[in-house]
Amino acid sequence: MLDPSKLPRHLAIIMDGNGRWAQEHGLPRVEGHREGAKAVREIVRAARETGLRALTLYAFSAQNWQRPPEEVATLMQLLRDYVVEERSEIMDNDIRLIAIGEVERLPPYAKDPLDALMADSAGNGGMTLCLALSYGGRESIVAAARALAEATARGEINPAQIDEEKFGASLQTGGLPQLDLLVRTSGEERLSNFLLWEAAYAELYFTETYWPAFGKAELYAALESFRGRERRFGRTREQIRSAG
Ligand code: IPE
Ligand code: IPE
Ligand code: MG
Repeated sequence: MLDPSKLPRHLAIIMDGNGRWAQEHGLPRVEGHREGAKAVREIVRAARETGLRALTLYAFSAQNWQRPPEEVATLMQLLRDYVVEERSEIMDNDIRLIAIGEVERLPPYAKDPLDALMADSAGNGGMTLCLALSYGGRESIVAAARALAEATARGEINPAQIDEEKFGASLQTGGLPQLDLLVRTSGEERLSNFLLWEAAYAELYFTETYWPAFGKAELYAALESFRGRERRFGRTREQIRSAG
């Protein structure tokens, strides 16, 4: 089923619906996040087995800091547990862990083990797992623009050299393959400030399934949908087909 030439190289997922999953099971929201963390483990493993080059997971947005402090604390603890408990899984499977977003805002009990695993896994080449943490697409575009402006002010680059390629490379995702497929769970159909630049030509896939219920079969359904897409990048169908 999974023709490697028709797989996305880079898949990103907006992991949404933990709270509603919990509510429907008569549980507190935090239990939804706990189940959501289990789904992360399953999907990372499946993505690696499938042969994706990069998987970016929207785990915590810049705007999610506005949630109740207890919920934020639970999410940070789950992040810590994830990086501590998944260390051998990540290392044994040759996965490189990176993070995008304002990671310096994370509490040290989460940031320190995250930094350690990112450093230790930096040489791994099987797949890149990119966690979006305290991430905002607009914030990241502004940060890249500011960095380029500063480099210009220092005389290191000429404004005329700033093009799409240079700008994209200045983003935190600059080292990742082009985003091919963007999935959002839980029936919401919006980007919520995720990968705004990177999603320019991504295929979008929405499913009603809440994130804690999103498993390997759901992932395969998304990949199957992607396989059937015709990506035209502004050209005509005839041009795409004659190019083979
Ligand atoms: C996604 O689930 C997890 C995070 C945003 C951290 P939600 O917590 O947003 O779940 P819903 O949308 O309230 O159901
Ligand atoms: C987006 O989900 C952020 C993550 C999945 C981490 P939200 O649940 O925070 O998005 P909105 O607020 O419904 O747009
Ligand atoms: Mg939500």
